[in-house]
Amino acid sequence: MRALYGSAAALAVAASLAACDDAGTAASPAASGVLRPAPVDTAEVTKDAGVPPSDSGAAYAWNLPPGFPVPRVPDDNPMTAEKVALGRRLFYEKKLSGNGTFSCGSCHEQKRAFTDGRGLAVGATGGVHARSSMSLANAAYASGLTWANPLMTTLEKQALVPMYGREPVELGSPDEAVLLARLGEDAAYADLFARAFPEEPVASLDHIVKAIASFERTLVSGGSPYDRELAGEKGAMSAEAKRGMELFFSERLECYHCHVGFAFSDATVHAGSTFVELPYHNTGLYNVDGSGAYPAPNRGVFEVTSRGADMGRFRAVTLRNIELTAPYFHDGSAATLEDVVDHYAAGGRHIESGAHAGDGSKSPLKNPLVRAFPLTASEKADVVAFLRSLTDATFLTDPRFSDPFEKGLAP
Ligand code: HEC
Ligand code: HEC
Repeated sequence: MRALYGSAAALAVAASLAACDDAGTAASPAASGVLRPAPVDTAEVTKDAGVPPSDSGAAYAWNLPPGFPVPRVPDDNPMTAEKVALGRRLFYEKKLSGNGTFSCGSCHEQKRAFTDGRGLAVGATGGVHARSSMSLANAAYASGLTWANPLMTTLEKQALVPMYGREPVELGSPDEAVLLARLGEDAAYADLFARAFPEEPVASLDHIVKAIASFERTLVSGGSPYDRELAGEKGAMSAEAKRGMELFFSERLECYHCHVGFAFSDATVHAGSTFVELPYHNTGLYNVDGSGAYPAPNRGVFEVTSRGADMGRFRAVTLRNIELTAPYFHDGSAATLEDVVDHYAAGGRHIESGAHAGDGSKSPLKNPLVRAFPLTASEKADVVAFLRSLTDATFLTDPRFSDPFEKGLAP
């Protein structure tokens, strides 16, 4: 079996493949022979993820799976076990929501690989989000966070969105002073904050987001049957899943160009990255006007940049634990993994009727790597079996990631 990651050389290959974006600037060997559109200027959104280089994670005992690099950690928030402990509790803390009913963990449940099982997320006050909740597995390695916001590059910054965002209200967190007073009602926090931030005795919102981000960076998933097979455990993957793996990494299906490397995403960064890429792709899910338009407010990077070339461009998200994170895509519009594979096999999604009618396979904005390919029924079952072999049971049950308030286990 090929080692797809796990050596410096494999990681270097992964890094070069990560140069694949919709602009046709890819250095990918497999892209040769593929007719690509003329390059467009994607510099603003693909070249600099704005994450400062750092070795702030170097001293932390990460306990990473084989082949996983040390995550990049911001200089002003070095990893410590004490911050992670505080962050874990805050992640599951319902006092963070205005009405005391919701925590981050309400939409990011460990047993569902930190998603919520819904097509569109629903906030603490019942507001429906435009997009689907995302898995937090290996979020430490994402060079851009959320489905399509190139400006969202750190977990610290991202945490403020569910806390204070208004469209929709997710947590509806109270203002800093009120929030800190509420947390102060729980005697355990004085000690947890003091240990996490020994040099700064007064708790603050800044400490809250730093601690939550530190906890999120520990949510590393790399113990699936696929990983175990790569590490030499013969038979960890079924024969079906192995056949599906060959298809996934084939030039016929092309999946691996975008879902690449240990994170199954081409938008990754780690402590040793010398160059940060943040590509986004239009995969032909919609074509409502014949010119490639996606329905608002889910037009991808276009929502941020208003540039025509960014219409429908989303991040190639991780496929780890994908079996548990249905429904799929940014708007939960594919119910099953079979539906997802059908979409790619057709080279884009054809929606026959309704407000979103249109043939995505004819979208002029679609990435050329998304193009129709023949696939028999048994090959389709094999691809799905491979995707299911990315489920990491350890990650889903790891007590370090669990809700400390459940069963009165709060530290
Ligand atoms: C109402 C449900 C909801 C709540 C509560 C919520 N999230 Fe999310 N989360 C989402 C949705 C929806 C997205 C995708 C957002 C987008 O693309 O606009 C997301 C995306 C994320 C991402 C990006 C993951 C990635 O790989 O890009 C992170 C990190 C995250 N949430 C962390 C948190 C944290 C931390 C909290 C608590 C402070 C939280 N979330 C609370 C629904 C929720
Ligand atoms: C051109 C890059 C590209 C290629 C090639 C590609 N994908 Fe994707 N994939 C993406 C992007 C971007 C998304 C998110 C799309 C969205 O939600 O609008 C995605 C989403 C997915 C999802 C849903 C993820 C989730 O959390 O909802 C699955 C599953 C998936 N891809 C599997 C595959 C498979 C299997 C193949 C090969 C047949 C493949 N992809 C080929 C870029 C790509």
